[in-house]
Amino acid sequence: MAFTIIKNGRVLDPETGLDAVKDVVIVDSKILEITDDINVEDYLHNNEMIGETEENDIVLDAEGCFVMPGLIDLHVHFREPGFEEKETIRTGARAGIRGGFTSVCMMPNTKPVIDAPDTLAEVMDIAENTTTLQVHPIAAITANQDGEYLTDFQTLYDNGAIAVSEDGKSVMNARVARQAMRLAAEIGVPVFAHCEDINLRARGVMNAGKRAKSLDLYGILNEVEDIIVARDIILAKDTGAQLHLCHCSTKDSVELIRLAKEAGVNVTAEVTPHHLTLTEDDVDGTDANFKMNPPLRKKEDRDALIQGLKDGIIDCIATDHAPHTEEDKKLGFKQAPFGIVGLETAVPIIYTEFVEKGILTPLEMAEKMSYNPAKVIGVDRGRLQVGADGDVTIIDPNFEFEINPASFFSKGKNTPYAGKKVKGLVKATIIDGRVVYQNNGRNESIIETVEHLDEDYY
Ligand code: DOR
Ligand code: ZN
Ligand code: ZN
Repeated sequence: MAFTIIKNGRVLDPETGLDAVKDVVIVDSKILEITDDINVEDYLHNNEMIGETEENDIVLDAEGCFVMPGLIDLHVHFREPGFEEKETIRTGARAGIRGGFTSVCMMPNTKPVIDAPDTLAEVMDIAENTTTLQVHPIAAITANQDGEYLTDFQTLYDNGAIAVSEDGKSVMNARVARQAMRLAAEIGVPVFAHCEDINLRARGVMNAGKRAKSLDLYGILNEVEDIIVARDIILAKDTGAQLHLCHCSTKDSVELIRLAKEAGVNVTAEVTPHHLTLTEDDVDGTDANFKMNPPLRKKEDRDALIQGLKDGIIDCIATDHAPHTEEDKKLGFKQAPFGIVGLETAVPIIYTEFVEKGILTPLEMAEKMSYNPAKVIGVDRGRLQVGADGDVTIIDPNFEFEINPASFFSKGKNTPYAGKKVKGLVKATIIDGRVVYQNNGRNESIIETVEHLDEDYY
C-alpha cells in the first residue's frame, strides 16, 4: 500500500465546483480522502483502517499551487511508427507528462496509418512498455487515410481505439463521410473531425487576406474550415453520430457549433492554445514555427474562440501537438510542413494568457483541460473526488520562467513561443497514484519506467 499525500493545495474539481485549500490523500491508485489539514503521521503510521504502509509514500507540499484533476489532451501526434525522427511515443509521452498531462489521444496519421488492428496493437504495445502516460490511440476513418474505404470501426474500437479520425485532412467525399458517421453512430465511437476543404485550400499556407498578400503567400480562407464544419454537423444531425470538431479556428465555426448545440446535435469542439493567443499578424512569412493547419486567423476570429470557450460552446482546449524536425521547419514558410508542438507550453500559456488575466477561472481551466475532455472520450477521469482515479496535476501559478525549446522532452522544438516569459509551472504529474514527474523550478525529475520495462524500446 503506497500513499501520496498532497498538502495545502488549492484543490479544484470542476464537477462539484470544489475550489478550496485542502489536503488530498491518494492510496495506491485511488483518491481516498480530501480534507482540511490532515496529519501526515496518521496516514503513514497509525491509521489502522488502512493498515501498514510501504516505504514509497510521498508527501508533496502544494502550498500556493493549483491541484487539478490530471490534464487530458484529446489531440496529439506522436509520429510512431514511421516518423520517429520527429517524435516517438516515448518522447511524446515524456513531453506530455512534463506538460502536466495524464492522458492523451494520439492521432492516426503515422506510417503505416493506424487503420488496422496490427498497427493499433503495435502502438498500444509501445505505449504500455515505455510510459505511464495513458495513450489512447485514435483509428483512421479510411484505409491509409485515402478517403475511399472505411476501416473496420467495430474491430478497431473493440481493440482499444478511443475514436476515429482522418486528422491531417478531412474525408472529402461526402458519401464516405456520411457512411462513416452512420457506422460510428451504430457502434458508439466518437468521430474527431479535422475540417478542411482541400480543394478550396489549394496551395494556401497562411490565413487568406491582406496579411498573406503583403507577404506574397497563398491564403487559406475561413470557408475552407466552415464548409466542412457545416457539412459534418449536418451529417451528425442526420446520422446521430457523436461529432467532435478538432482545432476550431474561425468565428463562423463557433457560430455553427452554437446553432448545432441549440438544435440538440451531439457535437463538441476543441480549440488550441495557439489559436486562442496568436493571430495572422504574428506570421512574418519566414518563421515556419507560425505555420500550422488550420492557420492563425484574424483577431476577430481569435476573440470569438475565446468567447466561445468561455460560453461553453467550445468544450475543450487541446494542443494538436505536431512535432517536426528543425530541418523540416527550415524549408521556408511555403515548403515547411504544418504544425507546432504544444504539450510543454499549454499550461503556462493558458495560465498566463487567460487565468492570470481573469478571463478563465482556475476551475474553468481544469474543466476545459481535464473534465470536459474526459467526457468527450467517455473515460471516468477528470474528477478530483474521493473514489476517483489518482490522476492529478499540480501547477505553481506564481513561478515565472521563459519558454525554452531546448529544455523540451519532445523531439520537436517547433514552437512559436520560444523566449516568451510565462507563469504556471507544472510542479508534479501524478498518474494512477504515482508521482511520475516533479519540478521545483530548479531540478526536475521524471519517473517514466513502467513495471516491466522492455529495454528494446529505448
Ligand atoms: O498543423 C497541423 N499539423 N495540422 C494538421 O492537421 C496535421 C498536423 C501534423 O500532423 O503535422
Ligand atoms: Zn488536424
Ligand atoms: Zn492534428
